[in-house]
Amino acid sequence: MLLKTSPIAAQRQSAKAKTIKILVVGGTGLISSKTVRILLDRGHEVIAASPSSGVNTITGEGLAAAMAGTDVVLDLANSPSFEDAVLEFFQTAGRNLLAAEATAGVRHHVALSVVGTQDLGDSGYFRGKQRPRKP
Ligand SMILES: NC(=O)c1ccc[n+]([C@@H]2O[C@H](COP(=O)([O-])OP(=O)(O)OC[C@H]3O[C@@H](n4cnc5c(N)ncnc54)[C@H](OP(=O)(O)O)[C@@H]3O)[C@@H](O)[C@H]2O)c1
Repeated sequence: MLLKTSPIAAQRQSAKAKTIKILVVGGTGLISSKTVRILLDRGHEVIAASPSSGVNTITGEGLAAAMAGTDVVLDLANSPSFEDAVLEFFQTAGRNLLAAEATAGVRHHVALSVVGTQDLGDSGYFRGKQRPRKP
C-alpha cells in the first residue's frame, strides 16, 4: 500500500530541511553563544560576528562582508558600557546594522529586547532598547 504524505506534512518536512544563513551579531556573548550552538545543531549556516572576529556595529568594520548571502540577522550584541554612552551605542549600532542589511538585501532582522523596557525610561540602556534607530 502506498502511503502519501499530506500536503501540510510535506510542507513541514520541507521547512525543517531548509537551512538558512544567519548572522548572529554579538555572537560571542552569554546569550548568543548558546543561540549559535542551537542554530548550528539545527543545521543552519551561522556566522558569529563580533569585534573580536572583525565585525563592529559601531565602526561598521566587517559589516558588509558579513552580510553577504545572509537570510536573517539576529542582533544579540550588548554595549560594553552601561553608562550614558549606552543609548548612543544601541542607536548607532541599530542604524549601521539596518543600513548594511538594506544594502545587502537582508529581509529579516531580529533584535533581543528586555521585558518591561517600556516602563524603564529613566535608563539610557532601556531607552536604547525601546528605539534603537531614533536620534
Ligand atoms: N543577559 C541577560 O540577562 C539579558 C536579558 C535580556 C536581554 N538581554 C539582551 O541580550 C543581548 C545580549 O546580552 P548578553 O548578556 O548575552 O551580552 P554579552 O554577554 O555582554 O555579549 C555582548 C556581545 O556583544 C558583542 N559586542 C560588543 N560591542 C559590539 C559591537 N560594537 N559590534 C558588534 N558586537 C559587539 C560582544 O563581542 P566581543 O566579545 O567581541 O566584545 C559580545 O559578543 C543584549 O542586547 C541584552 O540587552 C540580555
